[in-house]
Amino acid sequence: MDIGIVGAGNIGTTLAGLFTDAGHGVILSDPRGPQSLESTVEDLGPRAHAGDVEEAVRLGSVVVLALPFRNRESLPSGDLFAGKVVVDATTPDGDSAEMLDLPRTSSEYIAEQVPGARVVKTFDTMHWESLREAAGRDGEDRLALFLAGDDPRAKATVAGLVEDVGFAPVDTGTLVEGGRRQRPGTDLYDDPLTEAEARDRLSSVEPSP
Ligand SMILES: NC(=O)c1ccc[n+]([C@@H]2O[C@H](COP(=O)([O-])OP(=O)(O)OC[C@H]3O[C@@H](n4cnc5c(N)ncnc54)[C@H](OP(=O)(O)O)[C@@H]3O)[C@@H](O)[C@H]2O)c1
Repeated sequence: MDIGIVGAGNIGTTLAGLFTDAGHGVILSDPRGPQSLESTVEDLGPRAHAGDVEEAVRLGSVVVLALPFRNRESLPSGDLFAGKVVVDATTPDGDSAEMLDLPRTSSEYIAEQVPGARVVKTFDTMHWESLREAAGRDGEDRLALFLAGDDPRAKATVAGLVEDVGFAPVDTGTLVEGGRRQRPGTDLYDDPLTEAEARDRLSSVEPSP
């Protein structure tokens, strides 16, 4: 599958590596344009290509948003995202005190920026170094990644990608309810857990307000 990635920092580049290792194609993008990513895609190998942000969105069967949450309003507008499976990996964490106190989950704001997209929230709860180090563990040692979303088929597609890169997908619910369960500050956030531990933890987590 070709996966467009918007944002080529810690998370975007880590995911690009995991996806290409798993046999997927990647179109990696940042606001500075494809030339700025030449050496990055060379390191990633032949399955990785650099593009501008619009190309990453247009060419990706799935589009991963790995840009700072505060920059979401610069995402392409119009119907470019309509019908796309969009993975929202952003968190407002660390941007500003105001953002940490948002009245809605980050995905609700992201969904407004990508009209018609089928948004799934995942890759947001684990630090990029853990993501890189823990990918591909076997059996009971396999770590969980939480995902939230409203569209069951989009969720299944993204759960498949989570499995492809060597994690166990654990469904937290709808974009709003699940998003509240896995937002920064909750017991599901930034704590590497095996699938069994994750399911146990999830059973006791109420959506944060
Ligand atoms: N770091 C983590 O462990 C972690 C874990 C889970 C989720 N997240 C979330 O993932 C997102 C990225 O985090 P990060 O640590 O990877 O940040 P980062 O290392 O600072 O990388 C951000 C990337 O996004 C690009 N970017 C900035 N504005 C953009 C725009 N308007 N359109 C397209 N690309 C843009 C940046 O390009 P330039 O270099 O040109 O500015 C850079 O390539 C954040 O929302 C963060 O909360 C991070």
